Amino acid sequence: MESLEVKEEVSSMPRIGDKAPIFKAVTTQGEINFPEDYKGKWVILFSHPADFTPVCTSEFITFASLDEKFNKANCKLVGLSIDGLYSHIAWLRTIKDKIEFNGLKNVEVKFPLIEDITMEIAKKYGMVQPGESKTQAVRAVFFIDPEGIVRAIIYYPLSLGRNFDEIYRALIAMQTADAFKVATPADWYPGDDVIVSPAGTCGVAEERMASTDGLECKDWFFCTKELDKDEVLNTILKE
Ligand code: BEZ
Repeated sequence: MESLEVKEEVSSMPRIGDKAPIFKAVTTQGEINFPEDYKGKWVILFSHPADFTPVCTSEFITFASLDEKFNKANCKLVGLSIDGLYSHIAWLRTIKDKIEFNGLKNVEVKFPLIEDITMEIAKKYGMVQPGESKTQAVRAVFFIDPEGIVRAIIYYPLSLGRNFDEIYRALIAMQTADAFKVATPADWYPGDDVIVSPAGTCGVAEERMASTDGLECKDWFFCTKELDKDEVLNTILKE
């Protein structure tokens, strides 16, 4: 008897440390070549399920209101949904003309919103997760660094609007880790102590525990130091 084999489509997705997959796209701000057009900048590439939906609308108003703040941190925002260009344009016009959220109104979305009606880009980035929806992208957030490398990924389900303070905090924390060669502990914000790289030899472990030059070691493997808030912000933020 012939077996009825149901083949499930498996789409690959980039992982932390991978090169961001390349694509060309039509957006509400013209065509883009990704990530080539963003060389030298951080990018937050994020997907949302659909235009003209309430959670997405609240997210776009919030994200657009923070656009300048992200730009000052050398970071560009790029959105995507599995909708067409004219739907995107109509939705962004409606947001600007009619919708108020959390005291924000007349908000103009100036960052590009990619049309991806074929799902080609969404599938390349693992933004379509069929257990959640076969036709809509989940709320994915890809942090891509100035060399085009994926540095962090956060996924949210359709029903959960994102916390944009956390997205900004994560961006600044990664930039701080790069600039100062440190790591950042749980719930870190600029001005909080940072973590120095773990001791790699018994000798360094011994030195760390005896050190008096600004290191605070809870134990040999867990040492922190102060990092001035202004030093962090002056290094990272551009006027
Ligand atoms: C929303 O953005 O409101 C939404 C989108 C898809 C499913 C559920 C909610």
